[in-house]
Amino acid sequence: MIKILVTGGTGYIGSHTVVELQEEGMEVVIIDNLSNSEREVLSGISSITGKEPHFEEMDLRDEKATFGVFERHPDIDAIIHFAAFKAVGESVEKALEYYENNLFSLIHLMKAMRKYRVDHMVFSSSCTVYGEPDVLPVTEDAPIKKANSPYGNTKQICEEILQDSLASMQGKGVISLRYFNPIGAHESALIGELPVGVPNNLVPFITQTAAGLRECLSVYGDDYNTSDGSAVRDYINVVDLAKAHVASIRRLLNQEQKSQFEVFNLGTGKGLSVFEVIKAFERSTGQSLNYKVVGRREGDIEKMYADTSYANSELGWKAEKGIDETLRSAWKWEQKIRAQKSE
Ligand code: NAD
Ligand code: WQD
Repeated sequence: MIKILVTGGTGYIGSHTVVELQEEGMEVVIIDNLSNSEREVLSGISSITGKEPHFEEMDLRDEKATFGVFERHPDIDAIIHFAAFKAVGESVEKALEYYENNLFSLIHLMKAMRKYRVDHMVFSSSCTVYGEPDVLPVTEDAPIKKANSPYGNTKQICEEILQDSLASMQGKGVISLRYFNPIGAHESALIGELPVGVPNNLVPFITQTAAGLRECLSVYGDDYNTSDGSAVRDYINVVDLAKAHVASIRRLLNQEQKSQFEVFNLGTGKGLSVFEVIKAFERSTGQSLNYKVVGRREGDIEKMYADTSYANSELGWKAEKGIDETLRSAWKWEQKIRAQKSE
């Protein structure tokens, strides 16, 4: 049986990916230190799939502990590396912690790949590496722009570490997936996103406002050069995103990659404005949302959406779920968490 090590596997995107891997008959070992997720996610995963993943509660900043996992599981075929700190604003306040966590975790895993002869890795990258793109939709060969946060910079440096270290590692292959804006939850509402504190991201803020936890959504700017003045992003359903990881693993295991280091954009290919997302939320859930327009958020870009044709043709993958279905899943998940908290 194919065995995949998933770091950050109790996190938001990781947990949805574990489900898809298990549904494809693969065995999963999770590493997570639970710094931004909860152990209960494991029950959510096994309620959906009927299978318990192996769980290693440990910190990837600890090289020895990381190697220990490979000693206990000598038959790992590939790694999917999600574990990282990911909050853009926080990364400005805690730059050293972000560099330490995101870079050392990757370095320790790469050393483990070399030592324990694991040949394949899928890495979680981000569309943030493109900065404000000059051409839309964004293709994989769009230039990398200077990062405007330590977080964004960790993704750029990680991609460089991967390329540089692969140069001396024959027979190994890495796929870096640049996610656009992942949103939504598993349709079962057994797993989803668990934001800590006040959410920075649009969709969790919308669902928490609709649930009465926040008074009002602030729309950051209506004076952008877009059809309705609000900023445009490419919102991709997290289950669609998870499926792209399975496709990437298959590509690596079947040795179909064209070079040692490959990059794919993961989005829907369609840009939506903030106002369009609000309207879609109201339409698909029947909730009316309290919102007001405020000034632009510092560092925000105007428009960003992916050219997904390379991922579509090479991975044989395409985002399938529409925005209404996706926002309904986010709302169902929010209601589920609220019900649990009030128990
Ligand atoms: P998440 O915080 O929900 O999941 C990350 C998981 O990694 C958490 O469970 C956390 O506890 C764990 N972790 C962090 N540091 C660790 C360490 N040193 N050792 C072990 N475990 C550790 O985040 P997510 O949204 O699922 O994101 C997953 C990946 O995708 C990250 O690399 C993130 O940068 C990237 N990404 C996310 C988005 C997004 O909008 N969510 C967009 C682009 C890229
Ligand atoms: C989306 C749109 C906001 C909140 C971030 C990271 C990026 C990547 C994905 C990891 C923007 C607007 C938001 C609110 C609003 N993550 N908005 N009111 O900024 O595209 O990207 O997540 O790699 O690196 O920067 O996502 O969800 O924060 O914002 O009007 O309360 O919603 O201005 O236009 P963003 P987001």
